[in-house]
Amino acid sequence: MPKLLLNTLQGNPGDRVPFWFMRQAGRYLPEYREVRATTRSFMEFCYSPEKAAEVTLQPIRRYGMDGAILFADILVVPDGLGQKVWFEAGHGPKLEAIKDHTGFDNLSLGAFHDKVGNVYETVRRLKAELSSDVTLLGFAGAPWTVATYMIEGAGSKDHAAARQMGYGNPELFQKILDILVDATAEYLCAQIEAGADAVQIFDSWSAALPETMFQKWVIEPTVAIVDKIRAKHKEVPIIGFPRLSGAILPEFVSKTGVNAVSLDTGVPLEWARDNVQNKVCVQGNLDPHLVVSGGELMVDEAYRILETLKGGAHIFNLGHGFVPETPPENVALLSKTIKNFRR
Ligand code: CP3
Repeated sequence: MPKLLLNTLQGNPGDRVPFWFMRQAGRYLPEYREVRATTRSFMEFCYSPEKAAEVTLQPIRRYGMDGAILFADILVVPDGLGQKVWFEAGHGPKLEAIKDHTGFDNLSLGAFHDKVGNVYETVRRLKAELSSDVTLLGFAGAPWTVATYMIEGAGSKDHAAARQMGYGNPELFQKILDILVDATAEYLCAQIEAGADAVQIFDSWSAALPETMFQKWVIEPTVAIVDKIRAKHKEVPIIGFPRLSGAILPEFVSKTGVNAVSLDTGVPLEWARDNVQNKVCVQGNLDPHLVVSGGELMVDEAYRILETLKGGAHIFNLGHGFVPETPPENVALLSKTIKNFRR
């Protein structure tokens, strides 16, 4: 059966708009919470192929998305490099922060694939279990976003520690970006070799960087990853997501050469249509909080997105991930709305 989402990523849209949602697997689903409760550590959960494959499939069974996104986390990469990563309930991710060269010297690509190999096993299982019309999406965090966690040792509001290392110790900061480029490219290639049809690179924290730093910290590492993937897997679509990057988005698209770009909720759609969708496939951008309230307003906004972008390649998605308080029945109404729309 044809894969509508993959075809759309390759620039050949059909008359129905394909869809998937960021964080489509997660705490808003009771069946996710049930499987999640069987493993205490979140990282261990990510490294359990049977459970990770199961929670990847749960939303597809319920709602029939055109894409299944591998269940894992962006912090698998620093973990694979040997940095200590753990999740504390109610506090989000924690890492042993890299403050200086000693912290960096503890990182190594040597054991990377052994450490994260169970993720590839999850992809192989998904490939075997998924229906042939569903596109399997692999993913990784972009070097800048992953570096913010590695340097801060946690999530943060303004990524102060990473920015300050980038300015104050650019040589060390560049080494961190460089090892992340190598690890991320290898990680995504291995996901592709295990069966991923396309990959998305999440740069969740690329907002409000000075132009020169956006070039160096966001565009250049992404270009390097795209080049490394294309050298091995020329045909596999790559989706970029420089979240909240604003007016520099068209430049990100032309310089990185990604096949598609995810639009955050704040991107004006007619602008995106005229400046981005004229070059590549776009994905987005419903506010995830609208799916918490649901109803007519959610449906009207979904139609506005579908109508505005119907002239080109578009994959319906959110502007960021589902939040845990999302009622599952609102996701059902949203999915039905998208499935019944014709371009
Ligand atoms: O369904 C999917 O989207 C696939 C799985 C997925 C997860 N994380 C599962 C997860 C994906 C693609 C991610 C990416 C991710 N992880 C990003 C980039 C996308 C974004 O949201 O901007 C980032 C920044 C992270 C880092 C991360 N992981 C944080 C900050 C947290 C804690 C926040 C929270 O909601 O608690 C996580 C944990 C996490 N990753 C959960 C899930 C379902 C929740 C933890 C749990 O179930 O116990």
